[in-house]
Amino acid sequence: MAIAHRGASSYAPENTMAAFDLAIVMGARHIELDVHSTSDGHVVVIHDDTVDRTTDGSGPVAKVALAALRTLDAGSWFGHEFTGERIPTLDAVLGRYRGRVHVHVEIKGQSSQLSHQTADLIRKHGMVGEATITSFQIARLQETRANAPELTTGWLVADVTDAVIAQARSLGLSQICPRANRITSELVRRLRAAGFVVRAWGVASEDLMRQVVQSGADGMTVNFPDKLIAYLATSTASRG
Ligand code: G3P
Ligand code: CA
Repeated sequence: MAIAHRGASSYAPENTMAAFDLAIVMGARHIELDVHSTSDGHVVVIHDDTVDRTTDGSGPVAKVALAALRTLDAGSWFGHEFTGERIPTLDAVLGRYRGRVHVHVEIKGQSSQLSHQTADLIRKHGMVGEATITSFQIARLQETRANAPELTTGWLVADVTDAVIAQARSLGLSQICPRANRITSELVRRLRAAGFVVRAWGVASEDLMRQVVQSGADGMTVNFPDKLIAYLATSTASRG
């Protein structure tokens, strides 16, 4: 899985339709995005818990209503050609990309309501088989497993310990997602043998990207999906 991290975020403003569209143009069949709740209970696609870094506004996402968030410019910080990009709702992203890509939704906000709403939106769009819920927060994954056991789930972790494996197994999680620079072929074999899909995050360079591929992992999020797709084509061709 070559998963475009926040879209093709090396080339377009992260977590915008421009970044997701570009990922698809580059050939990605998987996109990753982050979700938070607005003050009036809508699910929006943004990484940070404030709008400061990626828009022309300021303040916590959770303190602003959707209508006000939608007036912010989420593109010009990245480049003037992206002026006018907006913070998308998860509803709009799923509606736009259903049937075109698998969507990996990372729950960033810290409420059970957000877990429930995210699952409901995936169901509404008929994307149960085309979506994966991920989080660093085990509480959000517990809520998802309890409320929507039909959904694929992955736990984002820095290090894989015996306790992580045991908890992931007891919760019925499908994926363990270690930090890329911790991945080895031994770790991949161990997690696969335990029944998990192994998906890396934090791929900061093309060298690391190649190391993750060579480890045998099942996939990774990457800001430059074009480079991973090209590398996978080359390494597949050379194998034969
Ligand atoms: O693939 C998971 C990755 O997105 C986690 O880190 O900070 O980019 O959300 P972050
Ligand atoms: Ca993320």
